[in-house]
Amino acid sequence: MTTVPDITLNDGATIPQLGFGVFQIKPEDTARAVLEAFEVGYRHIDTAQMYGNEREVGQAIAESGLPREELFITSKLNNDSHDPAAAREATARSVDALGGPMDLYLVHWPMPAVGDYVQTWHAMEAARDAGQTRSIGVSNFQIPHLERLLAESETVPAVNQIEVHPYLRQDAVRAFNREHGIATQAWSPISQGDVLDDPELLALAGETGRTVAQVVLRWHIQRGDIVFPKSTSPARMAENFDIFDFALTDAQVARVDACNIDRRRGPDPDEMNWIPG
Ligand SMILES: NC(=O)c1ccc[n+]([C@@H]2O[C@H](COP(=O)([O-])OP(=O)(O)OC[C@H]3O[C@@H](n4cnc5c(N)ncnc54)[C@H](OP(=O)(O)O)[C@@H]3O)[C@@H](O)[C@H]2O)c1
Repeated sequence: MTTVPDITLNDGATIPQLGFGVFQIKPEDTARAVLEAFEVGYRHIDTAQMYGNEREVGQAIAESGLPREELFITSKLNNDSHDPAAAREATARSVDALGGPMDLYLVHWPMPAVGDYVQTWHAMEAARDAGQTRSIGVSNFQIPHLERLLAESETVPAVNQIEVHPYLRQDAVRAFNREHGIATQAWSPISQGDVLDDPELLALAGETGRTVAQVVLRWHIQRGDIVFPKSTSPARMAENFDIFDFALTDAQVARVDACNIDRRRGPDPDEMNWIPG
């Protein structure tokens, strides 16, 4: 079976570089999708309180019969739970839904207009110290948000999970992450399908004998980022997993780099202030 490389985080934990994301998978479809992903070979699952499907991820973990230590499970603190007391309750609910402690727990969005993400970060440190998660990190943090965390807390986030794909290369945030030992996780790695009919990427797919999704996922892997494409189709789950028996040349990587148009698919983190109702 394909071996997915591990990335070592700044706290010594290791994470499989390729995982499976469950955003926008309906709760009733999630356990089946995660079990199918395990069947393909995925061992790293990315969920969130916001996705409403943690319990079904937990159900799949239990039903799979796989040893828990062979799995890597990430969840994220929701935007309505940034207050430390609310964070404590939300974290306990996640641990219960997932059937045990998380491997990685992220602040989903900084929400700079709404609250104080440094206080929220201290609640994440407390969750780690209480054994509710092995590692803690952030998501959608821009450089000024990271600078504040680094200045005002003891823990450097293990990861920063941000939107990255060929149309949004994110050079500045990725460089900041790298300089501070923060691993970059690239969400929406194929821009939810937006990049799949790009002419340059189609040309690269033709040259390599691979699909556009495989070329793009391979580009992320060679740049060192952690990815977890979502799919509800077992065939596409397998396609997205099958990226470790070829490599892009430096010139081909540069051609994917050149597709950048700084276009977000998701919200701008500086403006995101949505709280679930
Ligand atoms: N931290 C955050 O704020 C944040 C935000 C967004 C996402 N995420 C995480 O990142 C994960 C991935 O991002 P995403 O779900 O937004 O988008 P994505 O993985 O870039 O794209 C998923 C879309 O592409 C399709 N697809 C997948 N593989 C394909 C293939 N090989 N060929 C053609 N189409 C394919 C899927 O359709 P089918 O299902 O029909 O295959 C789905 O519509 C999420 O599941 C979530 O875990 C995090």
